[in-house]
Amino acid sequence: MGKFDILDDKGREKVQCKICGCFYHRLEVHLKKRHKKTLAEYESEFPGEPTMSKTAKRNASKSAKNRKTNEQSSVPSSDGSSIEKKDVVVIGRVSIPITKDEELNEFDRSYIPKNDELWMPGTKEYKSMEEIAVGIEDRDNIFIYGPHGSGKTTLIKQLGALTNTPVFIFNIIEGVTPDDFIGSMNLSANSDGNVITEWKDGMFTHLWERGFYIVFDEITASPANLLMRLHSVLDGGDLCIFENNGRIVKKHPRTRFFATDNTNGRGDDTGMYVGTNLLNEATLDRFGTVVEYTYTEPYNEKEIITNKGGVTKHFASKMVTVANKIREAYDKEECYCTISTRRLIDWAKKTKRFGDVRRASEVTILNKLNRGDKKFVSDIIQRHFGGTV
Ligand SMILES: Nc1ncnc2c1ncn2[C@@H]1O[C@H](COP(=O)(O)OP(=O)(O)O)[C@@H](O)[C@H]1O
Ligand SMILES: [Mg+2]
Repeated sequence: MGKFDILDDKGREKVQCKICGCFYHRLEVHLKKRHKKTLAEYESEFPGEPTMSKTAKRNASKSAKNRKTNEQSSVPSSDGSSIEKKDVVVIGRVSIPITKDEELNEFDRSYIPKNDELWMPGTKEYKSMEEIAVGIEDRDNIFIYGPHGSGKTTLIKQLGALTNTPVFIFNIIEGVTPDDFIGSMNLSANSDGNVITEWKDGMFTHLWERGFYIVFDEITASPANLLMRLHSVLDGGDLCIFENNGRIVKKHPRTRFFATDNTNGRGDDTGMYVGTNLLNEATLDRFGTVVEYTYTEPYNEKEIITNKGGVTKHFASKMVTVANKIREAYDKEECYCTISTRRLIDWAKKTKRFGDVRRASEVTILNKLNRGDKKFVSDIIQRHFGGTV
């Protein structure tokens, strides 16, 4: 049972932390460990929100009674309530249905993302996740923009994992044509050996019919004519194929279209995101939900680096401070590079491997930078970790 499951393995309902969206029977320890908050602080921030599940309350009153009568305490037995079938994921104010296994075929199932046990949304990510969930419920096309390596694609994949929905990620580059995508007439041989032309669906068409979360990663790198071809699909939902006497491909009720972007559809004039274009305003218009995504908060990033990179909390904390100094300098245009959560995880992993944080920073961060930025970043690392520049 995962932290995002509303029910425990006996089918008993838990309560949800309104800061990060995880479910527990009691929030007290979670609040203290994860959010450095007392129960009283949480209750004043979220008045009326429960902090204990019915089961936890029942167990608490049972053990209080047991203490009173000085009886030997027993393991709380099942409360006899029927085991409900878990069929939704609750994200803030939205409940998204969980896809039933019998609705999926083998192909679909092979694209259900794995649940990343070490994925942990911070407060801001959880807010974005709620906005995305509202977009999913409203059947919107959803656009998520923010710096590279901040967790945009991972968030969509985790939504797929939580809702048991297959996710297909396209990284489309210049040169890919609508035919590659939607389908085309192809030459083939019939049983008599004669050459015939026949229609073959492209991957997009298949996914549209099957109920996938379709993701255009880094959409501004996609060719404009392909995006134009998709306009009517993104508008109305059904895909019209004109060739081969025509056909309407119905949008599956579960199908959703997502786009991620580092540049808010505005293209890039910094030189950091080579190959991106300005997104046509008409394309941008077709997204009912546009979510801004930023790097996770320091308290959460520290935890991610510790869990995924295997370094101590003390080290992780200094790495996150270094990253935020670089991010601030980038925003103030004092350097031309920034540092992603992905790069921080790599830095932590290599630190563990080499047993040397400075050497690890060279292979994961510094050697990717130009001369000016390399000196600038190296100075910041040196100030926090010591050693020579
Ligand atoms: N909240 C999080 N918890 C754990 N790992 C995260 C989190 N957010 C991002 N990551 C990690 O950061 C890396 C970059 O994420 P990714 O989704 O590829 O970024 P983007 O799509 O924004 O470029 C991945 O390795 C991902 O697992
Ligand atoms: Mg991505």
